[in-house]
Amino acid sequence: MMTNTFTRHRRLRKNSAMRALVRETHLHVDDFIYPIFITEGENQKNPVPSMPGVFQFSLDRVKEELDEVVSLGIKSVILFGVPDDADKDECGTGAFHTHGIIQRGIRFVKEHYPELLVVADTCLCEYTSHGHCGIVENGAVLNDESLELLVKTAVSQAEAGADIIAPSNMMDGFVTAIREGLDEAGYLDIPIMSYAVKYSSAFYGPFRDAANSAPQFGDRKAYQMDYANRLEALREAESDVAEGADFLIVKPALAFLDIIRDVKNNFNLPLVAYNVSGEYAMVKAAAANGWIDERGIVMETLVGMKRAGVDLIITYHAKDAARWIKETN
Ligand code: PBG
Repeated sequence: MMTNTFTRHRRLRKNSAMRALVRETHLHVDDFIYPIFITEGENQKNPVPSMPGVFQFSLDRVKEELDEVVSLGIKSVILFGVPDDADKDECGTGAFHTHGIIQRGIRFVKEHYPELLVVADTCLCEYTSHGHCGIVENGAVLNDESLELLVKTAVSQAEAGADIIAPSNMMDGFVTAIREGLDEAGYLDIPIMSYAVKYSSAFYGPFRDAANSAPQFGDRKAYQMDYANRLEALREAESDVAEGADFLIVKPALAFLDIIRDVKNNFNLPLVAYNVSGEYAMVKAAAANGWIDERGIVMETLVGMKRAGVDLIITYHAKDAARWIKETN
C-alpha cells in the first residue's frame, strides 16, 4: 500500500463544490467593458460581417444595444465613432468637433444612461482620410503635431461627458499631453486609461472593417509596437505610469498573456486587456462551423486573461459572457 509517496492532487478536484472551493480566478460582470460602434445616419443597425453579433448603430437605434447591456448588468462601455467618409480629412478634425459623431454619441449615452460609465477611445484613425492615427507628412506620422489634435479630441470627449479617456494612438507623450490638456480645461477628475502597450497586430483587421479605419497606405508599424518585443512593453508602461496614467491597457490579449503578466508584476495600476476584434472573429467563425464549443472557449480565454493578471477586459464577448456567468451562479 503506497502512502505518502506521491501527492494526491485529485483530492481537490473531486466534485464541482470542491473545485469551486479552491478556484483561484473568477470572472465577474464588473470586469467587462463592452465596445459599441456609433455611426452617422438614421435607422442604421449594420452588421459587421467579420464580427457576427457586432453592429454599427446610428444614434436613434443604439438604445436597443444599451438596454441589453444594462439589463445584463454591464456597467461600462467603450465608444467608437464611425463618421461618414465625406467628413474625413487629412487632420481628422471630425474627431474633435463639438457635434462630431463620438461627441453626440457620448452625450446621448450619458443623457439616457447616466449610471453607465462611458470610456472614449481617443484616436484619429477613424477620422483621417488616410486612416493613420495622426498627421501625415512625407508618408510618416508626425508625433508632436499629432499630440495637439489628440488633446483637442480628448478635451472634446470630456466636454461631451466621457467618464474615462482612453488614448489608443501610440504617439509618444500622449499621456502627458492629454493629462495637461484635461487639467487645463478643468477635467482634473477624468482618468486616463492608456493603451500603454499596443502592438502592431493583424488581430485588428475586423475592427478596421467595423470602424472603417484601415490605413490607406502603409501600416502602423512606425508607431505601434513590434510583437516580437517584451522589454519594450515595460518601457512603454513605465513612461505612461510616470506621465500619470490611471489604467494600463495591453492589446491584443491572447498572443500577449506573457506581457500582461510582466506588466502586472511591475506596476500597480488597474490593468486592462483588450480582447480584440480578430480574437473575437476567430472564435465566432469556428463556432459558426460547429468546430468548437463557443461558450467553453470564451470562458476559458477570458479566465485565462484574468489569471495572467488583468483586472478588466474590453471584450466583444461581454454580453454573452455576462449571460453565462449569470446562468452558472
Ligand atoms: C484605434 C483603435 C484600434 C483598435 C482600438 N482602437 C485599431 C487600430 O489601432 O488599428 C482595435 C480594436 C480591435 O481590434 O478590436 N486606433
